[in-house]
Amino acid sequence: MHSLYQVSTFLALAGCVSGAPSSGSRLRKREALPDYATKYAPLSYLYSGEAWWPSDITVHLENVEPEVDYVATGANDSVTLNTLDSLSSDVYLTASDGPILDPLDGTPAWLSSEYGKPDDDNYSAAPGLIIAAEKNSTTTDVFYFYFYSYNYGGKVLDINFDDHVGDWEHVMIRFVNEEPYAIYCSEHSAGSAYYWDVVDFSGDRPLTYIAYGGHANYVTAGTQDYTIALGIISDKTDAGYLWDMTLNYRGYWYDVDSEEFTVAGGVGTGATEEDDETADWLSWLGCWGDEEYPSGLLDDIETGQYCISSECRYTSGPTGPYDKNLGRTTMCENDDDCTIFDSIDDLTTQS
Ligand SMILES: *[C@@H]1O[C@H](CO)[C@@H](O)[C@H](O)[C@H]1NC(C)=O
Ligand SMILES: *[C@@H]1O[C@H](CO)[C@@H](O)[C@H](O)[C@H]1NC(C)=O
Ligand SMILES: *[C@@H]1O[C@H](CO)[C@@H](O)[C@H](O)[C@H]1NC(C)=O
Repeated sequence: MHSLYQVSTFLALAGCVSGAPSSGSRLRKREALPDYATKYAPLSYLYSGEAWWPSDITVHLENVEPEVDYVATGANDSVTLNTLDSLSSDVYLTASDGPILDPLDGTPAWLSSEYGKPDDDNYSAAPGLIIAAEKNSTTTDVFYFYFYSYNYGGKVLDINFDDHVGDWEHVMIRFVNEEPYAIYCSEHSAGSAYYWDVVDFSGDRPLTYIAYGGHANYVTAGTQDYTIALGIISDKTDAGYLWDMTLNYRGYWYDVDSEEFTVAGGVGTGATEEDDETADWLSWLGCWGDEEYPSGLLDDIETGQYCISSECRYTSGPTGPYDKNLGRTTMCENDDDCTIFDSIDDLTTQS
């Protein structure tokens, strides 16, 4: 049960903190992604009882407005992918509907909408994001980013923690000489890496399982436990709805030296939308959801916020893909603590 030992620091990191420098002028070349990026892309199962489906980032942006310190910036109440990078990095994209009080009651509709639920063709109307980062002449890391408008955090001792607007998760596959070498799955703010040959496949493509609510990624189905300071949270995964991101995505290159993003084209709605976009939005370092609601007697009455120890019911929305260590040298988001497992056994408690 390796996840039990992998004491997660996700709550400490959940606050929207970003460190990467801003980039200068951007490349405009439109080179397609390499074939191997889609040939070996993960096939990802959303949970059968999922309630917070994949979202199109453009739809998300239509339902949020920029705030700093809980106050609308006024600069641009509406934000689009093409104006995002003009916002300051201390901005929180905050739900226009006001604090999300009870996400389980199905409101607001854009958070509980099912348009991103994969259909019988494994197609989600919410485009994924594929970013290729060439590390050197032999090694290219391909990142598959999943976006959801809401993260339902789950419960410890029947108390709900870590709900937030906006949720970026990713799987990364490292290719050496154009062959897959290993796969990394983000799990809250930590994650797990595995050698390629040891995971399960459908044809050439590795299978991943996306946990209910919090959308952590795993290579096995079942119940996955992880630890926070207050106790154990159990993630639920199963082969519910298969999401094939290669049917609908925006594609990009990331240059690790210049830290610049370039449009690489995509497939489906993602391709159509990307035709009219630049890659500049990827350089924006602000947060994709509300700032953690304040905690204090009066605040609690307004928002339902509570914090026990350092863990709160509502936490801040996450930063975007740029802040997920795309330039990593190891297989993991945290380069200082990275093991590549050579087995997927005994990492899971089957439910
Ligand atoms: C507001 O948005 C417009 C485009 O709609 C953009 O040209 C302008 O730079 C933005 N202003 C600020 C202050 O973000
Ligand atoms: C969906 O994916 C599964 C697993 O790869 C495959 O068996 C099935 O044929 C796919 N469905 C369609 C309609 O392509
Ligand atoms: C290429 O980059 C990877 C990842 O940082 C590293 O493991 C590998 O040794 C590098 N190879 C060369 C030839 O520099």
